[in-house]
Amino acid sequence: MKQIANWIIIILLFFSIASTHKLKFVGAFVRHGDRVPNKNIPKDGTIWQCKLNSLEMYNNDNLPSPTPSRLFGKKFMQDRNTLPGNCSRGQLTEIGAKQLQSLGSKFRNKYIYDLNFLPQELDPDFIWLRSTDKPRTMRSAANFFLGLYPQKDNRKQDVFPIHTMDWNNENMHFNTKMCPKLAILKNQIKRSPKYITHMKSIEYFIYQIDKIYGFIDLDGYNFLTLYNNVKFRINHNKTLPSGLSDKMIEKLKIEGGWYANFVMGNKTLVKLTIGPFLQDLLNAFDSKISGENPHKFHLYTAHNSGIVPLLAAYGAFDSRPVDFASSVVFELFQEKKKYYVRLSYNDRKIKIPGCKKKKCLYTKFKKITQKMIPKNYEKECRI
Ligand SMILES: *[C@@H]1O[C@H](CO)[C@@H](O)[C@H](O)[C@H]1NC(C)=O
Ligand SMILES: *[C@@H]1O[C@H](CO)[C@@H](O)[C@H](O)[C@H]1NC(C)=O
Ligand SMILES: *[C@@H]1O[C@H](CO)[C@@H](O)[C@H](O)[C@H]1NC(C)=O
Repeated sequence: MKQIANWIIIILLFFSIASTHKLKFVGAFVRHGDRVPNKNIPKDGTIWQCKLNSLEMYNNDNLPSPTPSRLFGKKFMQDRNTLPGNCSRGQLTEIGAKQLQSLGSKFRNKYIYDLNFLPQELDPDFIWLRSTDKPRTMRSAANFFLGLYPQKDNRKQDVFPIHTMDWNNENMHFNTKMCPKLAILKNQIKRSPKYITHMKSIEYFIYQIDKIYGFIDLDGYNFLTLYNNVKFRINHNKTLPSGLSDKMIEKLKIEGGWYANFVMGNKTLVKLTIGPFLQDLLNAFDSKISGENPHKFHLYTAHNSGIVPLLAAYGAFDSRPVDFASSVVFELFQEKKKYYVRLSYNDRKIKIPGCKKKKCLYTKFKKITQKMIPKNYEKECRI
């Protein structure tokens, strides 16, 4: 009897907490799913076949419900593309598409069913999608959305926008076009005594990898791309280069993570990489708080090169290569007149240094974020 009473108290407490902390807005920054390589390993002999087709549809009448009369498919000419086979460079694979769909359905379970935050039927006013202008991220956004709101068969065909910027204006990646200074800073970091000492300490590993892959100028960045390349191969049952042991794969992972943290996660670099995006994010929060922003959910699909600085900006990067379909989620809560932000990375809640709790007072969060936004981006980016 006493136990039941205790449970009732716990349940009542839970509801009183749940009702005072009201979720207002969610922003999810997500890496695309599994893909094929961008570059092939020289003399590697692996052929990459892609099953996911994308059909081009040219909608000349600009109708809201296009009914295409003719579709066009891309077909590579024999031996005229970098990657042997019929995939585009870096193309999202079926595995990648599924990863994003299941991430979308995880969000469906959490934000629609568990928390009742988003409506069960799609309300286009609540959801806003943004992606970098690459086929793999665009497609990742679409697949996430399919998981969040599965398509119903008999529904009228609608056109849902995925907002984007051209690559040269994009602020969700390491953009040296918009910020030439980034390239200089990166080189500076790679010439720093700490970087050089580290590379010296793994000289033998570099020699081993060089023997297998035949790279010139092997550096930390290569370890990250080679580690990714190993992952594609494992995901797709492709043979690994001969001589590459499990121990070396583990070392690639560690060294790739070290590079990501030391170079991509350098605070000076981070500000100029992801600072402008952080401003976009603060704008979304502020306009939500002021009542101008009707959206409840923003999806941003991007790359490793955005996830690392985003986490590093909050002192939350774990020095491990970022997995496909990884997510950094910002949740904005209201509690009476106060607002709070909670940050999580792949479901792990993160305590932002400088905040008292994992649920960070918005005014505090905003101050911490503003420190990572350049005061004068153009000037700081000039060389
Ligand atoms: C690529 O080749 C595979 C195997 O031959 C085939 O199943 C697939 O449809 C092709 N994909 C494209 C996009 O042509
Ligand atoms: C980050 O890079 C800048 C520019 O090269 C350098 O001055 C600074 O020491 C680096 N920060 C760390 C923590 O290594
Ligand atoms: C790889 O092999 C496993 C085990 O045989 C199989 O289940 C899986 O579907 C294969 N994956 C691909 C992409 O062919």
